[in-house]
Amino acid sequence: MQTKKLKRREFISFLGKAGLGMAFLPPFLAQSGNISTPSLAFQTEGEDYLQMLRNFKVKGLDPSDKDDLLLVEGLDYHVLIKWGDRISEKDNFGFNNDFTCFIPLDSNNPKDGLLWVNHEYINPLFVSHFDFNKYENPKNQKTKDQVDKEMYNVGGSIVRIKEVNGKWKVVENDPHNRRITSQTPISLNWDRPIKDKLTVKGTNSNCSGGITPWNTFLTCEENYDSCFGETEYDENENPTHVESNYGWEHFYNYPPEHYGWVVEINPKDGSAQKHIALGRFAHECCTVYELEDKRVVAYSGDDKMNEHLYKFISSTPGSLKEGTLYVADTVNGKWLPLDWERQPVLKKKFKDQTEVLIRAREAARLLGATELNRPEDIEIDPITGNIFVALTNNVKKDDHHGSILKIEETAGKFDSLTFTASTYKAGGEESGFSCPDNLAFDFSGNMWFTSDMSGSAMNKEGKPYMAFKNNSLFVIPRFGEDAGKVIRVASAPKDAELTGPWFAPDGKTLILSVQHPGEQTIDIKKPTSKWPFDDDNIPKPSVVAITGKLIEKMHKLSQIEQSKG
Ligand code: FEO
Ligand code: CA
Ligand code: CA
Repeated sequence: MQTKKLKRREFISFLGKAGLGMAFLPPFLAQSGNISTPSLAFQTEGEDYLQMLRNFKVKGLDPSDKDDLLLVEGLDYHVLIKWGDRISEKDNFGFNNDFTCFIPLDSNNPKDGLLWVNHEYINPLFVSHFDFNKYENPKNQKTKDQVDKEMYNVGGSIVRIKEVNGKWKVVENDPHNRRITSQTPISLNWDRPIKDKLTVKGTNSNCSGGITPWNTFLTCEENYDSCFGETEYDENENPTHVESNYGWEHFYNYPPEHYGWVVEINPKDGSAQKHIALGRFAHECCTVYELEDKRVVAYSGDDKMNEHLYKFISSTPGSLKEGTLYVADTVNGKWLPLDWERQPVLKKKFKDQTEVLIRAREAARLLGATELNRPEDIEIDPITGNIFVALTNNVKKDDHHGSILKIEETAGKFDSLTFTASTYKAGGEESGFSCPDNLAFDFSGNMWFTSDMSGSAMNKEGKPYMAFKNNSLFVIPRFGEDAGKVIRVASAPKDAELTGPWFAPDGKTLILSVQHPGEQTIDIKKPTSKWPFDDDNIPKPSVVAITGKLIEKMHKLSQIEQSKG
């Protein structure tokens, strides 16, 4: 205990402004947060107020199937930006916003900075007006113009945002505002070309992501096979091309091997690179922790049924290239190195380390990694340093509601090669949630998470999701009367998913994406959702800023409880 407390104090003095007990809050997240210390926060508060906070309970929302973004009492939102909004003279905001993150331009001003937003995928009906239902073989029927529109609408956006009088706003035409699309040239951070290229075209399927200690964005390529297909190998190692859903390869013959990576974006100039050392699979996210010696550890899940959880440990400071990629054996609590030199079984199958990384899924299986139920987002608990992984579901294993997995690295060391794994929360009617996806800790140590029940099963008779109604945002308070309870605090519009929760460094604003409202629409004239209720009645994926007394109360409660020691 003594050692832990000492360590905590060292961290706090290093963090400077951070609250008590946030030992594992990455310094690069706290650097500009105006998170006040408990003594400062309560010098002027009376005992009655403190007692009120101690007894404070959140009355959660009931499940709802209403076509609206509903928030619990104590929270408000305003739309920050939506699909199609102009961000500069030449660019518009893309479709299906997912991961968001924010980096202040000046560390002394947490209310002015650059927002990154992923644009994960498109709905052709809205984006290119291509109606799949009308064609027998739809993949061959798109025009090049339609494919170009679709390719423009994925990738990501950088927009400068500012808070003015309590409202966050996009700074239109700011020189930082730009799009990264499926056609933007991106270099590979690797010494050998992949399919003859060291610079490739674009990024797609950008689902969740992360941020680096050196203040750049990470965006992760998840279901990349939808765009340019996949290469599969038979038992004699003969490759075949499996066609994509979108059919983009009919116009742009980009190799599937150029996608499925973690991509780093420089906020200042939009330059991008793909990190080959982190492996190629359906990366949901990339959560980076900086060790004391400045080497980094990066966690990432492969969001596909029966796929795996990975972590990369760099061998040199600040590198996402030099180091080793490991895959989790959660049964025995071991991180297994995907290292061609050290693993005879990999040497036998693959010609070199580059091939191991390109075919990471097969390599992981050969090493005996544990199949998981769709590992999605990963976050580090800022107080304990435990790692939480959302496992959305796995119908192949009859897990319809998913769970949140807790990983405790041995001795709390992020570069440990052993760990223990346990279920933190299981989804289901009893716990009140199903299909956890994105996770976020606020600066007080409360866990927030979103659900991702698929639109084709949500609110459908005969499916296991009826009781949960629309996808939602939940919080698990860490302190007070509600500690450990799962509380629904937002309910999404019809067919939508709430994604990309990210706390701005003011600690008071939750940035959140509302993705794919109206996704089940068949006739564009009769959309299943009209949110955010524009005059054209077209549903639009949008990013919102959520603020309110609830976040502030939870923060103050955390400070009181932690200041008790
Ligand atoms: Fe794109 Fe795994 O969610
Ligand atoms: Ca996701
Ligand atoms: Ca998901």
